[in-house]
Amino acid sequence: MLLSPFRLERFFARHEFTAPRLLCASDGETCSVAALCDLVPGAAEGLSKVRLGYTDSRGEPALRQAVASLYAAVSPDDVLVHVGAEEAIFTFMAATLAAGDEVVVPTPCYQSLTDVARSLGARAAAWRCDPAWGFAPDMADLGALLGPRAKALVLNFPHNPTGYMPTPGVFAAMLAMAREHGVRVFSDEVYRFSEGPGVPPLPAACDLDDRAVSLGVLSKSFGLAGLRVGWVACRDRELLDRMAAVKDYLSICGSAVSEYLAVCAITAREAILGRMNALLAKNRERLEAFFHARPDLFHFVSPRGGLTAFPGLTGGDADAFCRDALEEAGVLLLPGRLYGEEWPDRFRIGFGRSDFAENLEKLAAFCHFWNTRRT
Ligand SMILES: Cc1ncc(COP(=O)(O)O)c(C=O)c1O
Repeated sequence: MLLSPFRLERFFARHEFTAPRLLCASDGETCSVAALCDLVPGAAEGLSKVRLGYTDSRGEPALRQAVASLYAAVSPDDVLVHVGAEEAIFTFMAATLAAGDEVVVPTPCYQSLTDVARSLGARAAAWRCDPAWGFAPDMADLGALLGPRAKALVLNFPHNPTGYMPTPGVFAAMLAMAREHGVRVFSDEVYRFSEGPGVPPLPAACDLDDRAVSLGVLSKSFGLAGLRVGWVACRDRELLDRMAAVKDYLSICGSAVSEYLAVCAITAREAILGRMNALLAKNRERLEAFFHARPDLFHFVSPRGGLTAFPGLTGGDADAFCRDALEEAGVLLLPGRLYGEEWPDRFRIGFGRSDFAENLEKLAAFCHFWNTRRT
């Protein structure tokens, strides 16, 4: 198995903790262990009693029960907990794909959704999200992409990096088309619970289809990436067993402390998600005002959900723009090329953090300077 370097993660490894101002994160504002425990009576004391041995390799029963409560048709035994969502992408691909198989993936995408498949000798077929259509992938293309070798259709809504979300009707049509072709859906729902105001949330794929896999995590809308708690929910137990067998070669089981705190977070989800969505709503207004005021500099499609957007420069190269923004203003943006060579004019901006307004001001000052230099 030959894995190519994960461009986006290598970029963060280099810059995330040294750049003065992080303006491209895909996760929401986080909190301390104490602040999380304050939301659940008795949690701090419970935490101090957590025993630090190995945990249940499927995820602690209390955690699987809490996760199942996020779905309509799923029981705790339909949940397999992982270390982050990233591990679950790996176990799914390794459990379902062999050399010569195909997986269809909306593109641009989080790189592991294509490259783990490629490392197994499978082909990742790009289902292009078109900026001209608000980053919607074309339903007319999907039937042709789901050929005889296709084993999985990856969906990812709200979408990283564009924030695109289909309507519930279109989402159901995607699942129906996959089912017609005998293809399993792997629905990366890590940005669930961060839909924009007035945008209908999507049902989870695992609730709509008994073979579909829903991928969830506490990293993004919950703002708890440091717990490294993710999971899959799927009513096909045989598939979960095969994924568990792969996981035995990776983390084996999760951290007892993280799993305890994950139960607290899901128990307190109303407070956590309420606070996060209030922050996202304020930041979304700032994001839209910023780009709408600069149509000469940027193409912009407002994200329907999630914590990121994928604007484009009207002229110039986003690599140079991002490099200068970091060097001259200390603002870290993520160049579109990290999502593939076909996005040279794009960059990712994240709006889930509480320092978004001040970082955006720095970017505004930089844009003024950059524009006068350009013209
Ligand atoms: C679409 C998507 N899937 C999976 C992941 C991995 O999530 P985690 O870092 O929580 O493992 C990410 C992280 O950015 C993502 O954007």
